Amino acid sequence: MDPKWTLSLLAAILHTVASAPESVFALEGNSVTLIMRHDNISNGTHIYDVTWVFNQSCDVVKYYPHYNKRRQLRIPDPYKGRIHFDRTTFSLELINPQKKDSGLYKGEINADGRKAVSEYRLNVLEQVTAPVLIVESVSSSGDLCNVTVTCRAGDLSLTSTCDISTCTQEEQAAPSSLTIFIKDGVIICNHSNPLSWHHATVELETLCQKQEIPLGDEQTPIWIYITVASGLVLLVLIGGVLFFRMHSKNQVLTVT
Ligand SMILES: *[C@@H]1O[C@H](CO)[C@@H](O)[C@H](O)[C@H]1NC(C)=O
Ligand SMILES: *[C@@H]1O[C@H](CO)[C@@H](O)[C@H](O)[C@H]1NC(C)=O
Ligand SMILES: *[C@@H]1O[C@H](CO)[C@@H](O)[C@H](O)[C@H]1NC(C)=O
Ligand SMILES: *[C@@H]1O[C@H](CO)[C@@H](O)[C@H](O)[C@H]1NC(C)=O
Ligand SMILES: *[C@@H]1O[C@H](CO)[C@@H](O)[C@H](O)[C@H]1NC(C)=O
Repeated sequence: MDPKWTLSLLAAILHTVASAPESVFALEGNSVTLIMRHDNISNGTHIYDVTWVFNQSCDVVKYYPHYNKRRQLRIPDPYKGRIHFDRTTFSLELINPQKKDSGLYKGEINADGRKAVSEYRLNVLEQVTAPVLIVESVSSSGDLCNVTVTCRAGDLSLTSTCDISTCTQEEQAAPSSLTIFIKDGVIICNHSNPLSWHHATVELETLCQKQEIPLGDEQTPIWIYITVASGLVLLVLIGGVLFFRMHSKNQVLTVT
């Protein structure tokens, strides 16, 4: 292959990599700021306009620094009150973003013979809900104990079987944000997305001990024996006392 070719190919690849939009995550309702990069444009350069566009078709804001003050900033109706544009940094703040605001945001500065582009792929995520951990079954023999649990959160569900050290899970059909694991004897189900999480726990030891109660039959007779034995001893004592008293009465009678 022609080395020139290889070089231009490499340059093309590098360019693609360099211009890949940066991923940004935001929680629904928490405002997020997209920074405009302008290291490419030196101070004092004449700037024609600055724009932010959503999904390559929808204008979010247009800024013309050289128009008169009242006509400088143009924010289309769907974005009125939902964004804040900084006239010095050109950054875009989305106030109270919703899931539908997820997508590609492209910021552009058009200056004298120069252009600066900033691209972000925004992911607006919901705050995750607290999961519920349900114990399906407990099977124990000797020191070994397996607990099968199901964790549910919204439409998500994950079943896992845990022993004291590990939890094994069935393969998930779809990528899911539920995970089940065991740490220090506590089974944990974690419902998470890149920005928030909630968890539910259940103690393995407690479940396994509860399971053992009906199996520990050998212990019950001991208590019965003790109760019966104490009863017998009491009877013998009472009998003895009665016998002694009767005997002494007889003696008294004999005396009179
Ligand atoms: C442009 O001005 C800012 C402050 O206004 C300064 O921090 C920055 O270094 C300047 N950049 C250049 C390239 O002169
Ligand atoms: C924006 O584009 C993303 C894909 O890049 C798409 O998932 C999303 O539905 C689009 N949003 C709107 C409102 O068109
Ligand atoms: C800097 O400006 C040049 C000339 O317009 C442009 O080709 C290049 O993509 C810009 N670089 C960045 C990082 O925006
Ligand atoms: C626990 O599960 C393992 C693996 O499935 C199995 O080999 C073992 O017999 C189980 N132990 C009990 C007490 O159920
Ligand atoms: C749940 O998952 C999130 C994200 O991976 C992590 O930051 C968090 O510490 C986890 N919580 C627990 C209890 O493990």
